[in-house]
This record gives sequence, structure tokens and C-alpha cells, in this order.
Amino acid sequence: MRCTTLYAFLVTSFIALAIFEHVLPKEATVLSTVFVESGGSYGEGAPDIAYPSNSTSLPELCAVIVNVTTSAISSYRFGLFLPSQWNQRFLAVGNGGFAGGINWLSMGNGVTYGHAVVSTDTGHNSTSTDVSWALDNEEKRKDFGFRAIHGSVVFGKALTEAFYRRDIAYSYYAGSSTGGRQGLKEVQLHADSFDGVLIGAPAWWTAHQQPWTSKVATYNLPVSGSNHIPSDRFSVIAKEVIKQCDAIDGVVDGIVSSPNECDFDSLALACDDDVQNTSACLTVPQLKTLRDIYANYTVNRELIFPGMELGSEATWSMILSGDAPSALGDGYIQNFVLNDPDWTWEQYNDSIVLLAEEFDPGGCTAWDYNALGKFRERGGKLFLFHGLADGGIVPRASGVFYERTLDLFGGLNIVRDWFRLFYIPGMEHVGDTPVGAPWFISGGSQASRLGSNAWAGRAGLDDPQHDALLALMDWVEKGMIIKQVIATTWTNSTDPDSGVLRQRPLCPYPERQVYIGGNEKVAESWKCV
Ligand SMILES: *[C@@H]1O[C@H](CO)[C@@H](O)[C@H](O)[C@H]1NC(C)=O
Ligand SMILES: *[C@@H]1O[C@H](CO)[C@@H](O)[C@H](O)[C@H]1NC(C)=O
Ligand SMILES: *[C@@H]1O[C@H](CO)[C@@H](O)[C@H](O)[C@H]1NC(C)=O
Ligand SMILES: *[C@@H]1O[C@H](CO)[C@@H](O)[C@H](O)[C@H]1NC(C)=O
Ligand SMILES: *[C@@H]1O[C@H](CO)[C@@H](O)[C@H](O)[C@H]1NC(C)=O
Ligand SMILES: *[C@@H]1O[C@H](CO)[C@@H](O)[C@H](O)[C@H]1NC(C)=O
Ligand SMILES: *[C@@H]1O[C@H](CO)[C@@H](O)[C@H](O)[C@H]1NC(C)=O
Repeated sequence: MRCTTLYAFLVTSFIALAIFEHVLPKEATVLSTVFVESGGSYGEGAPDIAYPSNSTSLPELCAVIVNVTTSAISSYRFGLFLPSQWNQRFLAVGNGGFAGGINWLSMGNGVTYGHAVVSTDTGHNSTSTDVSWALDNEEKRKDFGFRAIHGSVVFGKALTEAFYRRDIAYSYYAGSSTGGRQGLKEVQLHADSFDGVLIGAPAWWTAHQQPWTSKVATYNLPVSGSNHIPSDRFSVIAKEVIKQCDAIDGVVDGIVSSPNECDFDSLALACDDDVQNTSACLTVPQLKTLRDIYANYTVNRELIFPGMELGSEATWSMILSGDAPSALGDGYIQNFVLNDPDWTWEQYNDSIVLLAEEFDPGGCTAWDYNALGKFRERGGKLFLFHGLADGGIVPRASGVFYERTLDLFGGLNIVRDWFRLFYIPGMEHVGDTPVGAPWFISGGSQASRLGSNAWAGRAGLDDPQHDALLALMDWVEKGMIIKQVIATTWTNSTDPDSGVLRQRPLCPYPERQVYIGGNEKVAESWKCV
């Protein structure tokens, strides 16, 4: 197995390539090594049904795919990018939803920093909303839960050091949503895997979040019921929330940046008694549904999952539209918890979440806050971000994770030395915005919102003031505490070529952005207080 190239760098690493197989234990096999020239592209195309887009405009690199057997009935693959111009750093990137596929786009973005980058398919081959692979298969669930990410980090590091014949100086992680969960889980199980982790909108509370995903949708079902709020009404609700909550931060810009300070009156949406056309208002049963959607889900007074956030309405279609709950909820209940593919949402009851909590199938849930102590002792740094307009995973779920960590480790003044939480006002799940809010900080899986170009979003923003991964590296390597990161959005929020629309500093919780005067669209008009 070897990468073919004209370049001297690879000729000298030829010997290292020859020992790839020797570096790996017998359960791991190198499936391919391919040389990619500068400006080239790489990926698996359509057969990677979760991540079918090849990463383009890559720097010169060697692309490796490895297969690892984990049990008699399970195995996973991982991809590794080894750039010619290596900066002696290692980066692992994560996945999304229940996706089974190597995340080539996030790898492509990571390699533009000069890092060696690894990504796993998590042990199955599926789109992000297909959970059928997990039925009656605890081995595959474990690969998805924690085994594939850990193995790909261990073997990826070994191959990296053999390839360059040099030690890795620093190791990082960047992942969002399920990727966020994978990173937190890996840190909790193996404190020495990473020096810094960049976590976005993590799906960390699997055993609670997935049942809630079904539960919250049941409030809005059946579609024929008088309680049902059609998804075209979500924008009507969003408009009213903005009307009532936007100005609290001092600027009327359509961005709700302090939802927790807004005392929202849903009755403002109530239909008048004599109204004929109800497409711009809510009936009494719909208002009850709305209050349920915002309410925390509790069982026996225990918080199961926080309710939807004010300001997230425009993105509720992620899990509140259609004639059944999202497969992210129902698929988990059917295939992870009950082993019953015929179960339907009409049968939902609270015993399901208690069952999920008791068995945590696949060991997915990243709830061992205590284990973060070892990561901290090693000098590890944790950057957590979450969009306040996230209608897929509520931002307060990250708040719960942070608060529990604060409680365990002596409070904010101590914990902020190694763990900081940044809310991103107006940002949807992981990236993008429906309200022109600055969102891009080069967080895990953000660049792929901008297309397949590996450099997407980095032009002009390639510094620690705007790029959270570079800021995290400075925090880890130079002890430079992250006081703020400037987020960016463009005239077309996913097209950097359309020109910068707005920039604003993101602040470590509990600080928040405060407008200090001038053009609200530029970062200098704001500060963290
Ligand atoms: C993606 O890359 C693979 C190999 O790297 C190639 O076989 C495939 O044709 C490419 N697909 C697309 C859609 O470009
Ligand atoms: C994944 O499964 C699809 C069929 O659903 C198949 O076409 C594809 O080749 C498989 N991909 C991999 C990487 O095995
Ligand atoms: C990976 O290994 C497993 C089990 O050892 C095997 O079943 C599978 O076919 C291998 N995958 C590939 C793509 O070679
Ligand atoms: C109801 O009102 C909406 C706007 O509020 C309008 O778009 C729609 O055409 C109206 N429908 C009818 C039947 O008048
Ligand atoms: C909902 O849960 C959050 C924790 O995420 C808590 O701070 C808040 O007080 C709860 N709200 C209500 C109304 O109980
Ligand atoms: C709750 O749901 C589970 C799974 O469908 C079922 O086995 C159980 O009987 C239900 N419990 C009640 C009290 O209905
Ligand atoms: C915004 O940019 C994306 C990606 O370049 C493009 O697909 C989309 O059509 C654009 N949207 C508008 C409204 O122009």
C-alpha cells in the first residue's frame, strides 16, 4: 500500500507507508491509499450515502481508508487525510444524526489547516435519519456510540506518526450535533485523546433527547387534529416572537439574542372570535400546543429535556412537521430502545424515556460529567457553541451540560479556565441562519454548509479572532484564553462570495453581546459584558 507521487516528501515517506500495515493490529486493514494533488478532490461519491459530496480544492495529500473489525458482527471504516505540508497536529471530525459514512467534507476543511484529519463511518452505512441498522444489534450501536470514534483516533494517530516519522505535537477534535456527542463521549472515556475539543450543538443527551424528539412532535399530531399547527404557521409565530423579544438586547435587527429575558405572551397570536381566515393566528387548541412545545419535558419532576427556545420557530420543521415524529426520535425508540420496528408514536408513554435512561443502548449518552476532571487535569480545553435559533436540538441542552459541569467543578470562575460555552444568537442547528445573524466561526461541520470547497468560509477569516479552531489552538498551545470569537454571515447566508452582511462577537456564557453604538453590522459596535 502506498501513495504515488512525484514529490520528494512522499518518496521519503515511502518507508513509512510500507509499514502502515505493521502499525495496525490484525483487526485493522488498509483498504486504500490514494495520492491527491494540490487542488484535487477526494471522497467516495454516491456510495457514501450520508456524505456523497467529494471534498474539492484540497491541498496535496495522501488519502487512506482503513477497515476495523470490532466483533463477529460489526466493523467500521475510517478515512485519514495526510497533507504534504503537515503542521504536526492531528484532528478528528464527527458525524451528524445517525449517519453512517465518512465525513469527507469536514475532513477536507480540517486538512486546509495543515492537520492530519480522521473521520469514521461509525460502523454502518446509512443516511442520517435511517436507524434501521441498529435493530437488535448492540455491537453496531456500540460502534456508533463510542467505539468507532475512539478506534479511529488511536489508529489514525498511529498511522500519522508512522507516515511522517514524527510525533504529533497536539491533537484536536471538531464536531457538531452527533459529532458534538462523539467528541464529548471520547473526552469522557479517554481524557488523553485530545488537547482541545470544539463542540457544536451536541446531541450529548441521547437517552433523553431522542425520546423528547418524538414526545414534542406528538403535541402537534395528528395532522387532522384541532391541536395541529401546520408548519407554514411557524413563520407567523416566529414573527410575533421577534416582535416581542428582539429589542431586549438594544437593537431591532430581527435577531433574538436574549430569549431567556423575554416574557413572551402567546395570547398575542390568538385568533379573534369572528376571524374567518386563521392562517395568521392560532386557535385555542393550537395555543395549548404552542405552550407545550416551549415547555420543559419532565417526568416525576425530573428534567428530561428542555423545551424549544423562543426564537427557534423558523427551524421547527426539522422535527415538528409531517404526519409523524422525526426518525431521529421514532427510529431511536424503535431500533435502540424497544427492538420493535412496528412501534408508532401513538404508543408513546413516559416509560420509554425511563427505559432509554436505564439501558442507554450503545452507550451513546455523554453524561459522565465527572470524567471531564481528567481532561481538565491534562490541561484539556473545551469550546462549546450552540445556536439560539436551533429547532433540532434545543440550546438549553448545552446549558444543562454546562451547569452540571459548573456544579461539579467549583463554579464558573474555576471552570471557565478550561471550558467555555458560547451561544450564537439567531443560528440554526450547527450552522446557517434564518434571520441574517452572524453564525460562521469555522466550527465542526459549518464549512460544509457553504459547499464542497475545502477552504469554504476561510477567506479573510483565517485568524484566531474569527476562527474558533484557531482560537482553541491558541488557548491550548499558548494559553491565550478565548474572550470572544467574531462570527460572520453573508448577504446570502451560505455564500461567502455574496459579501459579508454582519459580524458580531460571540461571548462566553454568561456574558452576552451588548451594542455600544455605531453600525450594528460591524463587530466593533458590540462588546461582551
Ligand atoms: C468522488 O471521488 C471518487 C474517488 O476519489 C471518485 O471515484 C468519484 O467518481 C468522485 N465522485 C464525484 C461525484 O465526483
Ligand atoms: C451503502 O449502501 C448503498 C445501498 O444502500 C450502496 O449503494 C453503497 O455502495 C454502500 N456504500 C458503502 C460505502 O459500502
Ligand atoms: C471490514 O471487515 C468486516 C469484518 O471483518 C468485513 O465483513 C467487511 O467486509 C470489511 N469491509 C470492507 C469494506 O472490506
Ligand atoms: C388568509 O390570509 C393569508 C395571509 O394572512 C393570505 O395569504 C391567504 O390568501 C388568506 N386566505 C384566504 C382564503 O383568504
Ligand atoms: C426549564 O429547564 C431549564 C433548564 O434547562 C430551567 O432553567 C428552567 O427553569 C425550566 N423552566 C421551567 C418553567 O421550569
Ligand atoms: C408504555 O409503552 C411501552 C412500549 O410500547 C409498553 O410496553 C407499555 O405497556 C406502556 N405502558 C403503559 C402504562 O401504557
Ligand atoms: C445562496 O447560496 C447558495 C450556495 O451558494 C445557493 O445554493 C442558493 O441558491 C443561494 N440562495 C439565494 C437565495 O440566492
